[in-house]
Amino acid sequence: MQLPECVRNAVDERAAAVGFPQLRRAAQAMSTAYRQDHAAPTAGLLPAERVAAYLATRMPATYAAAHAVLRELEDCSITSLLDVGAGAGAASLAAQSWFPMLEAITLIERDSELAGVARDLLPKAQIRVENFLRLAQFPPHDLVIAAYSLGESRAPALVERLWRSAGVALVIIEPGTPRGFALVREARDSLLAAGAYMLAPCPAATPCPLDDPDWCHFAARVERTSLHRRLKGGELSYEDEKFSYIAVGRQPRHLALSRIIRRPRHQPGLITLEACTPRGIESLRVSKRDRERFRAARRAAWGDAFPPL
Ligand SMILES: C[S@@+](CC[C@H](N)C(=O)[O-])C[C@H]1O[C@@H](n2cnc3c(N)ncnc32)[C@H](O)[C@@H]1O
Repeated sequence: MQLPECVRNAVDERAAAVGFPQLRRAAQAMSTAYRQDHAAPTAGLLPAERVAAYLATRMPATYAAAHAVLRELEDCSITSLLDVGAGAGAASLAAQSWFPMLEAITLIERDSELAGVARDLLPKAQIRVENFLRLAQFPPHDLVIAAYSLGESRAPALVERLWRSAGVALVIIEPGTPRGFALVREARDSLLAAGAYMLAPCPAATPCPLDDPDWCHFAARVERTSLHRRLKGGELSYEDEKFSYIAVGRQPRHLALSRIIRRPRHQPGLITLEACTPRGIESLRVSKRDRERFRAARRAAWGDAFPPL
């Protein structure tokens, strides 16, 4: 997974304007703040440094996560999108690659610097620079997405308000950590109680079978640019962004029979898939003797529906 070229150019331009030493300092401050669960690492950073560091180190990963999640909704008819806590517009950019009918995009973002980047990247979108906690209601759109933004802004009934504005579907993405998953699970419970239909990733709208300290999360592989490697250190040409998510809709649809919740284990003639099923967590052992199923299992990845939808 790579960022679209226009985004890579914007990242490079902003990084060059800030200069590498300042960018590295900002990237380190950001990484420390995220590890300590602080939302916005601002102390001592200029807005341009903070934004360039976010674009260079976090946006490729959040884009990849949104891209992986929205693939699950590919068959939904989406003409309008509301991106709440949009940052520089990663989720909206990802949505553009899945929904060809998408015409109207609205972003709500309180950080004017990030909103400015979004304005450059999504020139046709409506960008609202405001605190979404102050909105009594959100404007109605087919798809509403809150990507990595709810954990920063807890407020009573926020999820319900987002749901009310979603004409077709609501997607919530959070970091793939126990804390991120707890938030997603809480949202899942309240959305199902409000009558929403499960779209993904769960194979049923039954209570989540995962018990503490386990948590449901997935991974999106992000190709690292040379700038990213220099900023974050390490030799790998990619990193895996871990995320948890929920997608619910207004209409029921066929759900995955099971969802793969760990990396598949491959042994000679046997593939074992750890999967969430309507009966609970199961280890699906797929033998080479079962030729068609084995072929599907060989292609299956962590996060996929199995068998494929
Ligand atoms: C971690 S970033 C994620 C940005 C983007 N959705 C993405 O996936 O790259 C969270 C964003 O939510 C924004 N945010 C958090 N709380 C907000 C609020 N109450 N009103 C508006 N924006 C908010 C922050 O300013 C930040 O840009």
